[in-house]
Formats: sequence, structure tokens, C-alpha cells
Amino acid sequence: MVKKIILDCDPGHDDAIALLLAHGNPEIELLAVTTVAGNQTIEKVTHNALAIARIANITGVPFAAGATRPLVRQAEVAASIHGETGLDGTELPEPTLALEPIHAVDLIINTIMSHPPKTVTLVPTGVLSNIALAARKEPRIVERVKEVVLMGGGYHTGNWSAVAEFNIKIDPEAAHIVFNEKWPITMVGLDLTHQALATPEVIEKIAAVGTKPASFVLDLLRFFTKTCKEAQGFDYPPVHDPCAVAYVIDPNVMTVQKVPVNIELTGTLTLGMTVADFRANASKDCHTQVAVKLNHGYFWDLVVDALERIGEVES
Ligand code: BDR
Ligand code: CA
Repeated sequence: MVKKIILDCDPGHDDAIALLLAHGNPEIELLAVTTVAGNQTIEKVTHNALAIARIANITGVPFAAGATRPLVRQAEVAASIHGETGLDGTELPEPTLALEPIHAVDLIINTIMSHPPKTVTLVPTGVLSNIALAARKEPRIVERVKEVVLMGGGYHTGNWSAVAEFNIKIDPEAAHIVFNEKWPITMVGLDLTHQALATPEVIEKIAAVGTKPASFVLDLLRFFTKTCKEAQGFDYPPVHDPCAVAYVIDPNVMTVQKVPVNIELTGTLTLGMTVADFRANASKDCHTQVAVKLNHGYFWDLVVDALERIGEVES
């Protein structure tokens, strides 16, 4: 059965690939795309999302802009990874799609409430400000969504501090709200995404697609390879965000483990850590699970297949 999703994102090189994967995969119905300040300002990531829509010919999907900053803390962008525009290293067309004249939080709420219970999956690939605000503004969405599959966190490492990942560290209060609501959550964190490396073989397969959207992905990966090497020491970049979309397409693309997870809000060295308790078998009512092991070949086949299905797009 087709999976209906809302992609809440902050493009962002890997968010861009997540959006292309969601658009190009026939198992996914993209109900809405919402943006949140994270990798760059809300203006920049929203412009980027709309430009990607043009590159991939995404039509008939509502896009809305959301939170301009974290709930409590000052905004902090990831220019060291995504550059000044949020999508440095690419040439973006002027968007043709118009934004919905409502806030992302309302688009999220309206979309969930207007679909039957347990049919909509939330896929956040950015900072969790919009999702937390939506849960507070309309608490009934928590019961109503099918599940939340998010890219964020990491149970064994961080990337914005020794133990905290960017999407959680930037708005830890929002993450705390999201992880403490009782909807089913799959945390696709760094433990998993550090296996989603764009190796030379992967680049070769994407190049073989030979279309403009594929060449856009090559530009994304070229820049991302450089910054992930310079800022984080990776030989090949971990392409985080499409992993969450891939899990929705087919959970068999990775193994997961049920384990309680909570967010550290007061630690001086550990702010924003996703603390996972592996000590015993998780209780039956545990509503969180973490992604553990990726099928690398299958994951990248999904991305390449989506690009092939998107095909050539006239500019
Ligand atoms: C996450 O942080 C962002 O920079 C990426 O887009 C991804 O969502 C990885 O830590
Ligand atoms: Ca992101």
C-alpha cells in the first residue's frame, strides 16, 4: 500500500536527496513538504525546497514555510556543511511553485486531521521545531499519525558535539517534546546514517542515470563530499536524510531495535544527546526504536531507481 508522508525538512544537501527519493519512489505519496530553520535560515531553506521542486518537476504538492528559530535557543545554521545558501555547489533555478499561504505547523495539522487515523507518516529530516509546535497546537495529531520516522540523534556518537547530532542539538527542547509524545518513533540517527556513504561506486551509478536531476544530485554530492571531509573527516559523505525516507519505503532496508530514548536538556557536555537505554529488553509499551544496520546496496538502489523514474525534466 502506498505510504502517505509529510516531509518536514531544511534543504540542505541530504534533505534535497530525501525529497527526490520521496518524489521518485512509487511507494510514497508526498502529501506536503514543510520547511524549518536549521541548516540555513527559513528563507533560504524554503527557497531551496521550492527550487528542488522545479528541478524534479514536483507539482500538486503543497509547500509551506515553518519555524524561523528554535523554541528556546538562538538559531544556529550549518554553513560549514551546507554553505551560505544551504545548497552551495549547485545552480538553482528560480522556483515556479508558490508557497501555501499558511504556516507549516498548520499545514502539518490540517493534513493529518483531514486524513483517516493512522494513515499519515511524519518524516522530519531537520530540526524538530515544527513538529513540536504542531503537537502542542493540536495534540490530537499524536494519536492520529501512523508513525514518526525522523533523521536525528545517534546513540553512540554525535556530530555537533561529542554526543549530540545537529537536528537534536539545535532545538533540544523541541526534540524533547517530540520524543516524549507517545506516537511510534523511529530514530534514524548517525549510527545508521554513517553507513549511508556516497562511495565512488554510488557516484558512478548516479552519473549513469544521465539526466538533469541526476546531475543536480552529483553537484550536491560533490560539495557535500568536500565539506564532510573538511569539517568531519569523512572520506565519503554520510547521506543522512534519505535514509529516513528509505525506511518508510521499505523497513527491510535497515534493522531497528526497540529501546527507550530521551533527550538530555541539562547536561553541560551532553546537551541534545539522545540517551538510549539498552540495558534490558524494552517494555511492551516502549514507543521508540532506533535504526541500527543499513543495507547499503539496497538503499542506494532506491535512490538511483527514484532518479530513473523522475527521468529527464525540461528546464
Ligand atoms: C543532519 O544535519 C543536517 O545538517 C543534515 O541535513 C541532516 O539532517 C545530520 O546531522
Ligand atoms: Ca536535514
